[in-house]
Amino acid sequence: MKNRSLSCAALLAVASVSAEAACDFEVLVNDSMQFQIKEMVADSSCDTITVTLQHEGQLTKKVMGHNWTLSKTEDLQGIAMDGMNAGLENDYIKPGDERVIAHTKIIGGGESDTISFSPSPLTPGGDYSFFCSYPGHWSVMRGTFVLK
Ligand code: CO
Repeated sequence: MKNRSLSCAALLAVASVSAEAACDFEVLVNDSMQFQIKEMVADSSCDTITVTLQHEGQLTKKVMGHNWTLSKTEDLQGIAMDGMNAGLENDYIKPGDERVIAHTKIIGGGESDTISFSPSPLTPGGDYSFFCSYPGHWSVMRGTFVLK
């Protein structure tokens, strides 16, 4: 009984942490076309928001590359379309694309990349999404970015 109540408390703690706005995020990916989180909740009072993308798979970035890209949801598809033409050497992001709020490099299995950016250009409550701009991934490999 003691163990059971402990694990319930742990579950509750995880649930409340995940709903709480944060400044630092670790985003895990692997050899499938999905992020291990569907929603990220950031705090508008953060000086900087830091995102570490960690690829726990085996495949190379040419085969199963992933990045973490942030934009307004309405800009997502256009960024991905232009990014496809930009190629791997540009991390599948069109150079100078002003619709991109922040993005990591494209990484493969065993690699990680960390970026930091200021939340100040973002509007709390705005409609933002994070996604992978690797060709073909953006339609399913995406989630909601909430700024509180
Ligand atoms: Co991807």
